Amino acid sequence: MTDMGNPNHRIFDPAKEEGAQPPQPRGSSLRDRIRRSEQDSGAASSLSRSGYIHNPQPVEEKQVAQERSQMMSPDQHQAMPEEVPVANEQPAPPPPIPAPPSQLRAEAEARKAPEPEAEEEPEVDADEQSAQNMVQPIGVVLEIAGSGSMIAIDLQRLSECAEDADPSIAMAGQVGSQIKIRVGNSWLLASVRNQRQDRKAGSILANIDFLGEGVEEKLTGRLHGFRRGVTRYPVPGALVYPASTADLKQVYASDGRSAVTIGKVYPTKDIRAGIYIDAMLGKHFALLGSTGTGKSTSAALILHRICEAAPEGHIVMIDPHGEYSAAFRNTGVILDVSNLQMPYWIMNFEEHCEVLLTSQGNDRQVDEDILAKCLLKARSKSRLAESMGKITVDSPIPYLLSDLSNAIQDAMGKLDKATTSAPYMRIKNKLEELKSDPRYQFMFSGMLVGDTMSEFICKIFRMPSNGKPISIIDVSGVPSDITSTVVAVLSRLVFDFAIWGREERTSPILLVCEEAHRYVPSEKNSDGNSVGTILSRIAKEGRKYGISLGLITQRPSDLAEGVLSQCGTIISMRLNNDRDQDFVRAAMPEGARGFLDAIPALRNRECIICGEGVAIPIRVSFDNLEESKRPASEDPSFVELWNQTGGEEEIVERTVQRWRSQG
Ligand SMILES: Nc1ncnc2c1ncn2[C@@H]1O[C@H](COP(=O)(O)OP(=O)(O)O)[C@@H](O)[C@H]1O
Ligand SMILES: [Mg+2]
Repeated sequence: MTDMGNPNHRIFDPAKEEGAQPPQPRGSSLRDRIRRSEQDSGAASSLSRSGYIHNPQPVEEKQVAQERSQMMSPDQHQAMPEEVPVANEQPAPPPPIPAPPSQLRAEAEARKAPEPEAEEEPEVDADEQSAQNMVQPIGVVLEIAGSGSMIAIDLQRLSECAEDADPSIAMAGQVGSQIKIRVGNSWLLASVRNQRQDRKAGSILANIDFLGEGVEEKLTGRLHGFRRGVTRYPVPGALVYPASTADLKQVYASDGRSAVTIGKVYPTKDIRAGIYIDAMLGKHFALLGSTGTGKSTSAALILHRICEAAPEGHIVMIDPHGEYSAAFRNTGVILDVSNLQMPYWIMNFEEHCEVLLTSQGNDRQVDEDILAKCLLKARSKSRLAESMGKITVDSPIPYLLSDLSNAIQDAMGKLDKATTSAPYMRIKNKLEELKSDPRYQFMFSGMLVGDTMSEFICKIFRMPSNGKPISIIDVSGVPSDITSTVVAVLSRLVFDFAIWGREERTSPILLVCEEAHRYVPSEKNSDGNSVGTILSRIAKEGRKYGISLGLITQRPSDLAEGVLSQCGTIISMRLNNDRDQDFVRAAMPEGARGFLDAIPALRNRECIICGEGVAIPIRVSFDNLEESKRPASEDPSFVELWNQTGGEEEIVERTVQRWRSQG
């Protein structure tokens, strides 16, 4: 899709857009300038209700065109350009700012006085007010510094705008809202980071962060061709205007890259919010938010949209709670302990140690040496190994569990009397335990001895996808002592497959990890598991090999250091904890500050997205995801369930049976 679902997006065509307001002449003081801009806007609203801004509503444009022809004589047309100031005119000296509130108020009151005929047509009146709000400044730039600067906002204008029918204008000047500043022939778009009162002047001072700029079309003064970054800063004294929905439509219109739409841009009613898939997946992404904010549902929504856009994709999702099977019944393959069939021999040496060794400290080293020798011996016994020549303990070559057991037994037999056999017994006993425990059968079954590596990889990586591009690996049934190793094996397979497949034309793979803080924990929480190492490695190097990582967590502060900053796109839902907020702030780009401050105040199903996947940071309210595509919610309704009765004894009986048989 090339246009992010924006039905009103259209290409600028100068021939169709004559008659808009010319650029603002500059006066010498704020009052002069606001007054001048009022006069202009009075004229402008008769010329074009959309002011400077691309207004994509065709009906309204027709109306405007009619009004224009009624109200403008041909000589007026010719007179206009003379008022156009030279673009690189020297900036006015900083005005005595902010303007005395009493005067601005008086002006505003005069402005607000309704015209008699307008009273008869209240709708037009609202439009008129909206048009006026759009073309009149709300404040002025005081100070410019690097990526941010300070503006003064007129209180009266703020409250006028607050009543505007256009929600973007109504938000103008508030924390997290967008405003625009004219610089020469372009518009700069900025977001408001904070507000504080200027008691002396009775106005509001606010810091802003620049988001990007759009070119101002010479004839019409409208904004088009928005892009990230700033090439020319405004000078103190430049006027600040509210950004309207029409402006934001231009800003958020897709630039032609493929995108998926996931919700609406806040605070507008209809602008679709999209994420550029290639940019987001190319540099990893993180989805953060406290429990209950809608993380899992949003993850499902994003993945559903990606699957729709790329039905032959390859997505592996690690699902520790078994939530997602409900969501991807139709578009994915669900793999759990009943059908995963992950062969034990696919583990490398480190993973074998995690599963088979129980000792710590000095004993651990001894046990590792024994296991290394015996494992290599067992692996070398297979016919496949014979045909391959040289192999290592890490080579994913099938071996018989009994061969490993025998190798340990043999080595034990060769011991002299002085050496203790305890380490051998430890490993052997653990091996026996795994073989006989039904909970480990998905991995340590005699049935898994065949060489199924290619089939296993095709199955979990969806190669070919057959219209089901996602595999949900539900590890909720895996015994907790080996869950992290299972996740490590799966993650390492993704990485190794990509490395060994470098010479092939393999497709990229997306690995999504729920509860990521469990698997890539910070040093303080780390227990040195291989899963942390492999996921950190994928975070750092994965993109070179076409692996994309998606990390979902409610505790970003518990993630390993550096992992979050490897995520090019951060989707943050509400975070209640200060430490988590600080972490996200540190990982997000400067320009997103104004948005970041909204993180603790987001509603459920709302998020801030910033980074590669979006043109500029956006606040999005997610679409409603239909029930059949939602993950199974973890929140039971106590009242509902505590109103039901019947079959309790049978339920308990069945549960006890499953419990006892451990399967
Ligand atoms: N986009 C959405 N559409 C429909 N329901 C949603 C959406 N987002 C969240 N919900 C609802 O909100 C509740 C909590 O969402 P969930 O994804 O489980 O949150 P989290 O994973 O953050 O704990 C669920 O009952 C879910 O159905
Ligand atoms: Mg969840």
